[in-house]
Amino acid sequence: MAKPRKKLQKKSPVAARLSPAKICADEARYMLQTYRRPPIVFTHGRGARLYDSQGREYLDFLAGIAVNALGYANPRIVKVIRREAGRTMHVSNLFHNPYQAPLARKLAEWSALDRAFFANSGSEAVEGALKLARAYAHARAGNGRAPKTRFLALENSFHGRTFGALSVTYPAKYRQPFEPLVPGVEFVRFNDVADLESKFDGTVCGIIIEPIQGEGGINLVSDDFWRRARELATQHGAALIADEIQAGMGRTGRHFAYQRFDSLPDIVTVAKPLGSGLPLGAFLASNEFASVISPGMHGSTFGGGPLVCAAALEFLSIVEEKNLLANVRERSAELRAGLEKLAAQFDFIREIRGEGLIIGIDLSIEGGPLVKDALSRGLLINCTHEHILRLLPPFIISRRDVAEFLGKFERVLAAASKSARPSASAASGAQAPARAAALAAAR
Ligand SMILES: Cc1ncc(COP(=O)(O)O)c(C=O)c1O
Repeated sequence: MAKPRKKLQKKSPVAARLSPAKICADEARYMLQTYRRPPIVFTHGRGARLYDSQGREYLDFLAGIAVNALGYANPRIVKVIRREAGRTMHVSNLFHNPYQAPLARKLAEWSALDRAFFANSGSEAVEGALKLARAYAHARAGNGRAPKTRFLALENSFHGRTFGALSVTYPAKYRQPFEPLVPGVEFVRFNDVADLESKFDGTVCGIIIEPIQGEGGINLVSDDFWRRARELATQHGAALIADEIQAGMGRTGRHFAYQRFDSLPDIVTVAKPLGSGLPLGAFLASNEFASVISPGMHGSTFGGGPLVCAAALEFLSIVEEKNLLANVRERSAELRAGLEKLAAQFDFIREIRGEGLIIGIDLSIEGGPLVKDALSRGLLINCTHEHILRLLPPFIISRRDVAEFLGKFERVLAAASKSARPSASAASGAQAPARAAALAAAR
């Protein structure tokens, strides 16, 4: 791999002891082969920069897939984690800890919902949200009447890997090897109001929607679709669940992506950036839905421990005090303007879409080789659906970072224009009817 950039940072003491080749060999020998990884070992970071064991620097426009919103080694987060590690890392949920309540209160202020439950990951937050929708349906059914049990989700959705979350996740490649999944899930065509209306009836207990689909290729749910989903959920006493795990907590330049619509969901799932890099997920709910939960119905050993909740509270304070939502919006405008210029230059860029710092670059060529080339030039990005490049930089990026990104990315595009292969999935379109039919048949 070509050297991306001159050494800017001394090797860390840990890095000095590491052999990337040995690490890769041991991973290949001893780990489940769930990830395809380049032969690089990242050892430390600062701000929006990440460093590997050879001391090479990378500008990180992926941020751990939307986790590292404050970049790396934020001094305030480091201080809080050190402080809490010296107090109690874990206190059982049988008892109070000092940080859950203030964090729940802050999340209620940000979301305009009422109550929070803390879990350890996005998938677990989704599990809780689905369970809450079912519990609400049970509570409302009463007197021997059968509760409604069906869920609706959207085509191209991604909600996680546990059984419930996987059941509402669309791509067959994630689902098929583990079937049968939770029964009673039906997928609605993206932004297709007529399809939504035909599938939403009195047997549905919840519909789960990413207001901006992340893994699905940075697709924005339309106002009309959201409004109709809200109306139908209210009409049928079902939960409207917003999965904000990737797009939420400030990434769009708003606290939550659903805040661009004029109505609220009943339940919201969050995770990724919330714990500042520590594992923390949550679902938030209106009082109407939350009221059906009583002690013992749901719980978690680790969820909402003092260390991670203190880090999350600090994260939210930093976003507010440093006015990071404004930074997200301003950097986004610069990035989008630069990308539009590049789109005019390179005809294999079909569309730029997204909001704030969740941006998709839809290509008519395969994206994988561009991600690899970017890495070799010291730039971290990602590709989803084989042809959509995804940018999820930290909220703290500067104007200089954006300019550096655009300069490097232009060189990646220029190289690709000489050697690129057309993308089969882009040519057929991710939503091509034949492919969608094949996927439906596969289920
Ligand atoms: C929208 C969305 N929901 C749920 C999840 C699952 O989160 P986790 O990987 O923390 O379980 C993800 C992860 O990428 C996601 O993007």
